[in-house]
Amino acid sequence: MALLQVSDLTVSYGRVTALSGLSLTLEEGQIFTVLGANGAGKSTLLRAILGAVPARAGSVAFAGADVTRMPPHERVARGIVLVPEGRRILISLTVEENLRLGAHLRNDQPAIRREMDAIYDRFSNLAQRRHMLASCLSGGEQQMLAIGRAMMARPRLMMLDEPSLGLAPLFVSKVFDLIRELNRDGLSVLLVEQNAGKALAVAHRATVLELGRATMTGDPKLLAADPRLQEAYLGEGAKAPAA
Ligand SMILES: Nc1ncnc2c1ncn2[C@@H]1O[C@H](COP(=O)(O)OP(=O)(O)OP(=O)(O)O)[C@@H](O)[C@H]1O
Ligand SMILES: [Mg+2]
Repeated sequence: MALLQVSDLTVSYGRVTALSGLSLTLEEGQIFTVLGANGAGKSTLLRAILGAVPARAGSVAFAGADVTRMPPHERVARGIVLVPEGRRILISLTVEENLRLGAHLRNDQPAIRREMDAIYDRFSNLAQRRHMLASCLSGGEQQMLAIGRAMMARPRLMMLDEPSLGLAPLFVSKVFDLIRELNRDGLSVLLVEQNAGKALAVAHRATVLELGRATMTGDPKLLAADPRLQEAYLGEGAKAPAA
């Protein structure tokens, strides 16, 4: 059974149809990358899986349950989290308060403490700044905090909306290393990215969205080698990820 099954999903904002009849299947343990130009519907897809925008037609099933009509907090409780575009951490709160917010649906305090310590072990920058306001963090550190906060919900599926956008190259690599590591520890990942080369290189499966439809889906290595995709997303002279 797939962990996530999106079937014929249609989402509209008033008269604008952002997704039309989109289907995708994510198996447990996979990293699934979604590419697409501005306005293709990538963020809408993630919001609809979380339940932040309603499905007009079609369905979303997670871990065998139909969650299409469930409110976001119930989906989070079942193991779906979203690290949104632009990170959206609360800059007037401390690093630690931000992490605690990620666990707001849980009340197993000892486990929360243990996991927070595990996040501090993983991110020494956050550990050193745990009692500082999040506004003191660099963009890359804020992204790490956003991912750490999402981990505090103890997800089975983490959705990331353009996590490398606007980051310095060093942090871009760190974000992709982190996604790989979390996945190795068992987390399934749905990744929306502009950085097509890196996002295809970490993925087990990928799809390209155009105007709310999937135009190419499959093995990321094959997609990376596809001339149409190279032209549109990898830029001239860009190299396909190493096999
Ligand atoms: N809140 C909204 N109200 C009205 N239209 C919206 C809203 N959010 C998105 N749209 C429209 O829906 C379509 C898909 O937008 P979406 O943000 O999902 O695309 P995207 O692929 O994430 O783009 P980007 O790469 O710019 O982040 C676009 O035509 C967009 O203008
Ligand atoms: Mg978007």
